[in-house]
Parts: sequence; C-alpha cells; structure tokens
Amino acid sequence: MYAQLVTSEGGKAREAMTPEEAAFQDRIDRGEKIEPKEWMPEGYRKTLIRQIGQHAHSEIVGQLPEGNWITRAPTLERKQILLAKVQDEAGHGLYLYSAAETLGVSRDELIDLLHAGKMKYSSIFNYPTLTWADMGAVGWLVDGAAIMNQVPLQRTSYGPYSRAMIRICKEESFHQRQGYDIMMKMAKGTPEQKAMAQDALNRFWFPSLMMFGPSDKDSVHSAQSMAWKIKMNTNDELRQKFVDQTVPQAEYLGLTVPDPELKWNEEKGGYDFSEPDWSEFFAVISGNGPCNEERLGARVKAWEDGAWVREGLMAHAKKQDARRAAARVAAE
Ligand code: 3HC
Repeated sequence: MYAQLVTSEGGKAREAMTPEEAAFQDRIDRGEKIEPKEWMPEGYRKTLIRQIGQHAHSEIVGQLPEGNWITRAPTLERKQILLAKVQDEAGHGLYLYSAAETLGVSRDELIDLLHAGKMKYSSIFNYPTLTWADMGAVGWLVDGAAIMNQVPLQRTSYGPYSRAMIRICKEESFHQRQGYDIMMKMAKGTPEQKAMAQDALNRFWFPSLMMFGPSDKDSVHSAQSMAWKIKMNTNDELRQKFVDQTVPQAEYLGLTVPDPELKWNEEKGGYDFSEPDWSEFFAVISGNGPCNEERLGARVKAWEDGAWVREGLMAHAKKQDARRAAARVAAE
C-alpha cells in the first residue's frame, strides 16, 4: 500500500495528492521556506514536531554525560570551556523547543512526552562517560556527527527550524574543535593519556556511527522526510561522509579506529567500514541502553526539583502583568 503511494524519489505520489498538497510540494521543490502560519499537510507538521522535538530533547539530555565531568575537569580553563559548552546545549534545546512551539505544540507537552518515554532522544546519550578522555571523544565524535547531520538541516524547508540550525551549527563547530583539542593533548601526552584517548575512541566510535539512524533500508521516515526537505540526506550518506572526514583526523592523532574492516576504497572515493551492531542500536532506542534509566531519571528529577522555580517565575510574571495593567488604567 505504502509503496503504491510513493514516488521513486520518496514521498507521496502526485496522483495521490490533493490540490493543496500538490501546491505545497511545488513550493518545497522550488526551495521556498514554509513559515508557521502557512498551510501545511498534517503529516509534515507531525514529522517536524517529532524530529525537532527529538532533537531538542537530545540537546537537553545531552548535557548530562558532560555535566558529569564539570566538577572533575583537570584545569580551570577546561572547566570554564566545558561549562560554556554545556550551557550552549541548553540554549540549543531552547531554540528547538521554540521552533517546535510554532507548530502548535507546547514545550510542556513535549517534555511530558519525553518523561513518559513516548518521545526519543539521541541514542548516543545513553552511553556512560567514564574518563576525562571521553570529554574529548564526545566533543570530537558526537558533536562532529551532530554537525555532519545539522549543516544540511540549515537548508531544511521549515523556516524556524532552518534558522535555529544556523545558530546551532556555529556553536557546534566550536564544540567539535574543543573536543579534538582535548584528544590532541591526550594523544600527544604520556603513554597513559594516549591509552585513555584510544579507549575513549574505542567506546564512542560505533555509538557515534549509530547517531545517523538505522541503515537506509530500515529508515522508515527518510523517503517522505526527504521529499518534504525535512531531511536533506539519507542516514547512510551522512554516515559515510562522517567516516571519510573522521578517519584522517584519527590518523593525525596517532589513534586507531576500532574497525578491522576499515579500508580506503579508491573506486567509491570513500572508506569501506563495518556496520554498527544494529541490535544494540534498537535496544538503546527502545529504552534498554546502558544509561537510559539513569538519564531519564535525572531529567525527571530535575524537572520535579525545579517546580518551585517555575511557579515563582509564573507568580512574578503575573504580578508584573497586573502592575502593567493597573498603570495603563491609571494613565487613561
Ligand atoms: N537515536 C534515537 N532514535 C533514533 C536515532 C538515534 N540516533 N536514529 C533514528 N532514530 C529513530 C527515529 O526517531 C525513528 O523512530 P520514531 O519513528 O519512533 O521517531 C526510528 O529510529 C527510525 O529512524 P528513521 O531513520 O526513519 O528516522 P528519522 O528520519 O527521524 O532519522 C535522524 C533520524 C537522522 C536522527 C533525524 O531524526 C534527524 O536528522 N534529526 C535531527 C537531528 C537530531 O535529532 N540530532 C540529535 C543529535 S544529538 C545533538 O544534536 C546534541 C549535540 O549537542 C551533540
């Protein structure tokens, strides 16, 4: 049934579209941006809420594995940098929740869905950060993979999402460089430090490859999302680009990518590499990764512990509104 309704490029076939849907698709094909109050198919709206919401949650949950190291950063400078990076991630989450809100869903609703385990966040944040070298690997590989995915999303068809991505990408590239800088220091340091850097690369390599999502044949959303330009590339395309970009960086560090099958393929102009363990990926995204419980537990606790702050802010805002209203009446 689905196959009959999609074109070879993916997305709904023209013959199956209503006139509004066809006109909407024409706008997308011409490269126009779709803005919040304009007509859009319900599926487009829902897909955006799912993807932007999941992305926002990833930024917020993504603070946890690094937040874990703020008190243990080895120098004052490293501590300041890490603090700033973790704060940036909170900011990214807020831009993205705001972009999602333009689609008619509130931030509170999205957060409730996350806390109830009904919305996902990136698989990568369900892995532990065991040593300081993991801060290097996370910045280099995790933020590196995030940028690979997010740079094309600056051209995504939904205006508020694409504009949020422009700012986020600027900050993510700084994050990636700070991670590589940590890796460089450790890889060129003592043998023990180099071993820590190698161990971090060993543990984060395949989980980073999983960030791009399942292989194209198992990606349920890619065809329609690409037709709508909600996604600009397939999962496998971006994974390949990431490997091609990252392997020379690992070589420069003098570290070994933990994949015996990794080999330059002259013909395709890219590396051949091993697939991640997809059974592990599906276990992690269905809630059974090494840290899922801990991460979600920490988010729920932070939300509950912060209730009094939200209540205080609301009370203050109400008071200010009332004062402004009274001042207006007095001035009339
Ligand atoms: N982690 C968790 N779930 C994932 C996933 C991942 N790495 N990759 C795919 N999935 C889920 C999908 O959400 C979908 O499940 P659902 O139907 O329940 O939502 C299912 O697996 C099938 O995958 P698809 O390929 O069909 O899904 P998508 O078309 O949505 O593609 C994606 C997945 C490439 C991650 C896409 O959603 C995307 O580009 N999202 C925007 C970018 C994003 O969310 N990045 C988060 C990275 S972390 C980050 O940015 C924080 C920074 O500080 C490092």
